[in-house]
Amino acid sequence: MAQESALNFTYEQLLSNVKLDTPLIAGGVRCHGGFDATGYRSPRTMWRVPAIEAWQKQHLATSPVPLIEIAADLVPPHLPSVAQAKLLLKAGVREPIVRMLTEIAIVEGFGATIRDLPVPPMASFIRESTAATGLAHLTGGLFEAHARDEAGWGDEGGHKQMWEAARDIALSNPDVPGDILMMIMGRRSAQNRPPRLLPTLAEPVERLLAFMVGVLAIEVFARSTFVWAEELLGDPEVSDSPAEASRLISYIRSDESPHVEYLRTTLSEVAARTLIAEDGSEIAGREAVNALLERSLKMMIRQRIRERRDQIRSSIRTAAQGKVADVEEFVARFDALETPWEPPAFARLEPVSGAAGNSGQVGY
Ligand SMILES: [Fe+2]
Ligand SMILES: [Fe+2]
Repeated sequence: MAQESALNFTYEQLLSNVKLDTPLIAGGVRCHGGFDATGYRSPRTMWRVPAIEAWQKQHLATSPVPLIEIAADLVPPHLPSVAQAKLLLKAGVREPIVRMLTEIAIVEGFGATIRDLPVPPMASFIRESTAATGLAHLTGGLFEAHARDEAGWGDEGGHKQMWEAARDIALSNPDVPGDILMMIMGRRSAQNRPPRLLPTLAEPVERLLAFMVGVLAIEVFARSTFVWAEELLGDPEVSDSPAEASRLISYIRSDESPHVEYLRTTLSEVAARTLIAEDGSEIAGREAVNALLERSLKMMIRQRIRERRDQIRSSIRTAAQGKVADVEEFVARFDALETPWEPPAFARLEPVSGAAGNSGQVGY
């Protein structure tokens, strides 16, 4: 299939796979991606990866706005740390870790909803042309490829199934509690939709931009999850299939790279342009994207610091009953192994009302 031009790609192209010698089979499930002579190749990257690179180059050549970057020091270390998770597994308190890995798999599966996000016509809210940009391809394959990568497609597993397989081979098919999906849904419905931040924009425009910013932040924050899971599930002291499980996590990690790259590209394209409000007034795209990004990061960092620790402690208190002599002493030992981390100054300010619709997600 020939490329239409250097910057325009068809839907089919953006979903095309590179030629593989062997498919990826994980825990007996055929998954996306596979292997050629160079090693693991992520799904749907034949044209998607060069397309994103070309849009990035074009953006940098035509705009002074740099590509959006979420600094590494904004990303909290994984909670629990590897040392904390090992303490649990070695003591036979496996349920909190089984829950956590299952939650990641479920939330990856929620990635399927990306394809349902309403996308208003670009010309209805962006002053300048978006022809031959990543933005012009969001509904032309980029969102669909992302949804398929996360949730699987047809009879091929995606990240949902790959995380389940990693859990099951590393922990030898553990019992999976049946209430995990319900608990995630309960936490989500308890979160209010955040108030409008850019109320002059049409509601679907703010929703689209806020969603993209939120998913970008989740994708970047997930880096600490990958480092954690690769180390933990790759540790023969606690993993029953260290090499296979950590390799599988590394494949998922490499599949995430096009997600981060297309989102930072398209949000940078917005930042370089002018947004049209409902009353015809204008907002600099850069201001809008920065405001949404700062709010998302604040909410995610606070969620990590406040809620996640409490969730894990309560999950340990339940699971450790009858497995350790003194549950409170065990929780204290667990707490002492947390990786210390100082949140950035901007996230320590006064609480914001509401919570991010996406906060608490760790998968995508
Ligand atoms: Fe992703
Ligand atoms: Fe993913």
